[in-house]
Parts: sequence; C-alpha cells; structure tokens
Amino acid sequence: MHNDLKKISVSAEEISAMNKRIGEAISRDFKDKNPLFIGLLKGCIPFMPDMLKYVLIPCTIDYVRASSYEGTKTTGDVRIHGHIPNVEGRHVIIVDDIIDTGRTLEAIRRLFLERGALTVTNCVLLDKPEGRVIDITPAYVGGLVPNEFVVGYGLDYNERYRNLPYIGVLREEIYKK
Ligand code: IMP
Ligand code: MG
Repeated sequence: MHNDLKKISVSAEEISAMNKRIGEAISRDFKDKNPLFIGLLKGCIPFMPDMLKYVLIPCTIDYVRASSYEGTKTTGDVRIHGHIPNVEGRHVIIVDDIIDTGRTLEAIRRLFLERGALTVTNCVLLDKPEGRVIDITPAYVGGLVPNEFVVGYGLDYNERYRNLPYIGVLREEIYKK
C-alpha cells in the first residue's frame, strides 16, 4: 500500500469485479440503444476504459472536462471546460469516478437534456451517500464508501494518486500540512 494512505477501501480485485458487473448490466439494459458514453475527465480514467471492456454492444464514447474540486473541498460551482459532445437524439450514459454531493452529475445531466439527449443515465464507480445535497441516485454504482476522502484509480488529491491500481483513504497529515 502507498505510504500516504491510511487504509485500502477498494482493492484492485474488487474494482475489476465492479467493472465487470457494471459493464455487463449496461450491455443488457442498452442492447439496441446505441448508447453514448460520456466520461468526466479526468476522474473517469481508468474506470471508463476498464468498464467498457465488458460492454459488448454497439456504442460510442466521448468526454467532457468538468471540475468543482480544489484540494479536498468541493466548491459547489460546477464548470465545464472546452469540448461539449453532440448528444442530440442519444441515450447518454455519464461516467464518473465518484458521486458525493451530486452537483456535478446533476449539472451535466441538465446540460445534456437541454441539448437534446433522449435519456441521461448516471454511472459511477463509487457512491458517498452521506455527502449528498441533491436527491439523485445513479443507475449504476460499483460500491459505497463512507464520508472520507479517498484517492486512487482516477480519484485524485491535487492531481496526485490517480495512477494507483486500488482506492484508499488518504492520511489526514497529507492534506492538513
Ligand atoms: P459532487 O459534485 O460533490 O458529487 O462531486 C463529484 C466530484 O468530486 C467527483 O467527480 C470527484 O472528482 C470529486 N470527489 C468527491 N469525493 C472525492 C474523494 O473522496 N476523492 C477524490 N475526489 C472526490
Ligand atoms: Mg472527478
């Protein structure tokens, strides 16, 4: 385990099982719907590509860059930077690493509906239900985590730790110093 972590919350093996379960469920539910997967960068990497290996139906992929976090605090102000995919007439599946307050997914869901998406479905690897401010439950969730700041497998603290193959709780000394 990385020295900056207090404990591992989700092991690499557990993550693989979550990816398989989600990918297979989406393949069943979206058969014949040609869904458009839209990953929220950068947290959707490596979750989206790994999960997509289990999606064996026709689909397309795209991305948006969204941000609301500075350090370990959400600013509550969701911003989309640059490229916005064409979602008109599509069944969109938004893919993100984690849902906390729900503000990011809600802001992006609304944007895509305004821009003509037929349906918008949320898919996240992790859910922190205690942090929720907006009443939203993603259709696809890998697992639940308590209200602690986690990093790894796409989740960052000031851009670090996204490359870890597992997810763990960051030691408080790291972000309090
Ligand atoms: P929400 O808008 O509060 O639901 O926040 C979602 C975004 O906050 C995610 O896309 C993450 O980038 C970030 N986030 C929330 N919790 C954590 C965490 O524990 N570690 C790292 N990033 C987090
Ligand atoms: Mg993110």
